[in-house]
Amino acid sequence: MRNYVIEDLPHYFEEYKKSIKNPKKFWDKVADQNFVWYQRWSKVVKYDMNEAKITWFKDAKLNITKNCLDRHLSVRGEKTAIIWEPNDPKEEAQHISYNDLYTRVNKTANVLREMGIEKGDRVCIYLPMIPELAVTMLACAKLGAVHSVIFAGFSASAVVSRVNDCGAKLLITSDGSYRGSKVLDLKSIIDEALEKCPTVEKTLVVKRTRNEVKMKEGRDFWMDNLYEKASADFVTVIMDAEDPLFILYTSGSTGKPKGMLHTSAGYMVYSAYTFKNVFNYQENDIYWCTADIGWITGHSYILYGPLLNGATTVIFEGVPTYPEPDRFWELIEKHKVTQFYTAPTAIRSLAKESTEWVDKHDLSSLRVIGSVGEPINEEAWHWFNDHVGRKKCPIVDTWWQTETGGIMISPIPFVTPTKPTYATLPLPGIQPVLMDDKRNEITGNQVTGNLCIRFPWPGIARTIWGDHQRYKETYFSAFPGKYFTGDGALRDEVGYYRITGRVDDVVIVSGHNLGTAPIEDSINEHPAVAESAIVGFPHDIKGSALYGFVILKDSGSDRKQENLVKEINQLISDQIGPIAKLDKIQFVSGLPKTRSGKIMRRILRKIAEGDFSNFGDTSTLLNPEIVEEIKNERI
Ligand code: WTA
Repeated sequence: MRNYVIEDLPHYFEEYKKSIKNPKKFWDKVADQNFVWYQRWSKVVKYDMNEAKITWFKDAKLNITKNCLDRHLSVRGEKTAIIWEPNDPKEEAQHISYNDLYTRVNKTANVLREMGIEKGDRVCIYLPMIPELAVTMLACAKLGAVHSVIFAGFSASAVVSRVNDCGAKLLITSDGSYRGSKVLDLKSIIDEALEKCPTVEKTLVVKRTRNEVKMKEGRDFWMDNLYEKASADFVTVIMDAEDPLFILYTSGSTGKPKGMLHTSAGYMVYSAYTFKNVFNYQENDIYWCTADIGWITGHSYILYGPLLNGATTVIFEGVPTYPEPDRFWELIEKHKVTQFYTAPTAIRSLAKESTEWVDKHDLSSLRVIGSVGEPINEEAWHWFNDHVGRKKCPIVDTWWQTETGGIMISPIPFVTPTKPTYATLPLPGIQPVLMDDKRNEITGNQVTGNLCIRFPWPGIARTIWGDHQRYKETYFSAFPGKYFTGDGALRDEVGYYRITGRVDDVVIVSGHNLGTAPIEDSINEHPAVAESAIVGFPHDIKGSALYGFVILKDSGSDRKQENLVKEINQLISDQIGPIAKLDKIQFVSGLPKTRSGKIMRRILRKIAEGDFSNFGDTSTLLNPEIVEEIKNERI
């Protein structure tokens, strides 16, 4: 499998060169030799970067679940596919074999069919991290339905906008979820949301917490009743290479969330190939990614990537600090985890605890550790390296996005020498370029610029559900002919990449992408608010936190400001989710604006950061005097 596994640094460079010189040949071989297909493709790739039209493996027929499940049964049917670790350490972990998972998926696919679901229908899934989440996603894929997982921490109105955008027919949820010492009532959030979701005909409810829930006659059905009765045989639906596999929403810098659409063949090839190489996956490994399956990291590297490689993947229901702040370390020891993939925000929060929590555990099973979701700072990198990897595990700092489907820039462990805070080198097939603001490519090393990608790769999202124009404008128009990532990056003297952060109005709080515009929209709905502007500022644990500048309609208002702060945060929490609450709110009499009426966010960002040294060119400001006022009253 020399075309699939990268063995050493010269081999990486050789593969990389080949993949750039002739991408078609490169991906043709990867796809041909490592997957089962009902029918081969007639063309590897066809693309038009100006129209944002991309197809991979045209005319191929497949089903991703054949590759995740069926083909493993004869060789590793009794092998554990999923280790499920419940929130409460007193509850026993489940080990689900490939045979068992296959049966569960078949039965669930029959339940979905009984609910009237057919190929192409959209199914929204709002579940905690329980096995049924993985099973229902696979059941959708087996049946040809398009799953759209909505992170089960989102509020009812965030559910409404996602469900309505994709026109889901069915919604799958549970009675509740356990998070540390809390029990969250998911069903009532869904009940509230469904008041405003006309396309949803039915809901399936999984039993988890057994708290009292309301079941609406004719609409709500208990999963377990139907599951018990369902047949264990299900004939896989044959999918075309470009048939939709799933939609996953991500925040944009403006307006409503973007439903990124991933399709069947390209996503399969890319998530499998990157999993194998970035995690140095070997047959008997126990792999654990701590993300929630509700994010792309969970889709590609808890579910699809690992199962496509026949791996054992850990799904953890709980939180890192329950019952004690050593739960992660305890689980690595308990399950003898070999690869551990987490986020900088988790690392930073656990690094605040006494090192005894981590040092007392035997973590010698670990071979590779990884980070994803936001830039990892130097301190967190070293803590992770010293205390978790114990200086013997390479850290894979993996850069990628919901839109890219899989990892794009990352060290390959035991191949690429790592460098703290650097995602290092592109994977084969990925051609990063740095562009200046005048749309010129920046060549050479020791340079910074806007990170773009020159050529399509199999995992790229094909469109924004229902809005191809927005897809084209967001990703393919800023730098014509190239995919624009929205990130800035630095290329060092040897060509290693370091991602410096977003260059648009998206702020990453604890690893979650938040567009500032939708938060401003919800604040502006408060009757006392005239206008608002939100920016990110550095935060020790969250990476970035949100700072809101708010103009009140009546500055002499007799409402107490502390009450307003509470009300504004409640509004955000209701409309978007608690994750989007503001850390700081400053009431101001105006916002710095250009003559064309645009808020100069660059200045607000500097004020929020407490950096008053250089505001840059302020000559185009309509109201330069406001800067001084805001600066003086900074919180
Ligand atoms: C950021 C998560 C620095 C980046 C897989 C990107 C990173 C956004 C890294 C996508 C990293 C992700 N270093 N920044 N290793 N990984 N990012 O869509 O700004 O939730 O554009 O996908 O996270 O976030 P998303």
